[in-house]
Amino acid sequence: MKKLVIKNLHKIFNIENKKVKALNNVDLSIGDGEIVTIVGRSGCGKTTLLRILCGLEQKTSGDMEIISKDNNKSNKIGIVFQEPRLMPWLTVEENMAFSLIKNKNKDEVRTKVNKYLHMFGLENFRNAYPAQISGGMAQRVSLGRTMCYDPEIILMDEPLGALDAFNRRKLQNEFINIFIKNDKTIIFVTHDVEEAVYIGQRVIVLENGSVVNDIPIPLDYYRDVTSIRFVKIKEKILNNFRGNNIG
Ligand SMILES: Nc1ncnc2c1ncn2[C@@H]1O[C@H](COP(=O)(O)OP(=O)(O)O)[C@@H](O)[C@H]1O
Ligand SMILES: [Mg+2]
Repeated sequence: MKKLVIKNLHKIFNIENKKVKALNNVDLSIGDGEIVTIVGRSGCGKTTLLRILCGLEQKTSGDMEIISKDNNKSNKIGIVFQEPRLMPWLTVEENMAFSLIKNKNKDEVRTKVNKYLHMFGLENFRNAYPAQISGGMAQRVSLGRTMCYDPEIILMDEPLGALDAFNRRKLQNEFINIFIKNDKTIIFVTHDVEEAVYIGQRVIVLENGSVVNDIPIPLDYYRDVTSIRFVKIKEKILNNFRGNNIG
């Protein structure tokens, strides 16, 4: 068992003598293997929260702890950004292997990369360069690179935000497929309420840097966005934002 516990987390940015409260008293507990989505409007603190969780940003105060009862599992955290951030001079295969650059065991690296090239349907594109593949494929490479690093917890910051609606649904399904197959803890951030309910086993609503709702989604994958149960949950979450435009 592994649990991510966040207590009283605060983050204040100082910009030109002005204080911006990005996170305000965030309390969260996320269990092993949970697929959690965090939804909120632009500027509510989603990226700041993920950046603090993976150590790219310092917190102002509060605690964050990974509690592990299984010594065989690492506490590694991986992150996938909105832009795939691939190296343009490396092939798909080389980009995926990039997170294993310190691993000198070439056979192990090859086996791992092959596993994820296969899982993401990228075998025929292993020698392509980022400029030669679509945005959806690039995002699959980006998740593949993170998976190769073998983190227990994967943070995703609006990874499908740049895709058109058709590719977005396709990738949502592919990502769900990979999440349920791989038993990782997933924290997936989005500003799209439908996407949050489509992907999450639990949706956390963030407003002005605070958690304002935490809703379990008791629906099986792959979800029917037109079903009454789905629409009701979506409405319930949208009610948190009524009177304001989300985006
Ligand atoms: N590096 C930074 N310096 C100053 N202010 C920042 C910085 N990063 C984020 N902020 C501010 O913190 C708030 C939350 O931003 P962010 O976490 O990026 O929100 P989201 O990802 O939900 O759009 C915003 O008001 C933003 O302007
Ligand atoms: Mg953001």
